[in-house]
Amino acid sequence: MKIALTINHTPHSFDVEPRTLLVDLLRDHCHLTGTHVGCDTSQCGCCTVLKDGVSIKACTTLAAQVDACHITTIEGLGQDALHPVQVAFAQCHALQCGFCTPGMIMSSVDLLNKNPNPTDEDIMLALEGNLCRCTGYVNIVAAVKAAASQMRMGAKA
Ligand code: FES
Ligand code: FES
Repeated sequence: MKIALTINHTPHSFDVEPRTLLVDLLRDHCHLTGTHVGCDTSQCGCCTVLKDGVSIKACTTLAAQVDACHITTIEGLGQDALHPVQVAFAQCHALQCGFCTPGMIMSSVDLLNKNPNPTDEDIMLALEGNLCRCTGYVNIVAAVKAAASQMRMGAKA
């Protein structure tokens, strides 16, 4: 089936099988391998991307479901300079192996788009669908709070 969508501000069209998953479209057809696959069952959040600005799990979304949508992947953030959430994750040591990091960042961006001044509880709730096996969550929560503060002070997203 033919689909047309925007990925990271660039229009694309594809001829895909109806069963094609969004994560496979991104990784295999577009070579956007920053969207990771950790479980394939909608549990780990490593595959999180934004669909029209709202976070979704690309491993359980069909490519056909994002026809005519705008998808943002980790590669689409901060194309001129790093996004404030990316900067904060680096400054707050909010990652170790980095496997969960793209999904953590995309979910955090979604949160901060909706709530520019989240509490720790808001952040933990927003990230409950993202699992990290090595860093733990203290520094991740600190990074999201730091990014929120920077963005409220005018840091460009
Ligand atoms: S790979 Fe999608 S939630 Fe784990
Ligand atoms: S930094 Fe390794 S899984 Fe999160």
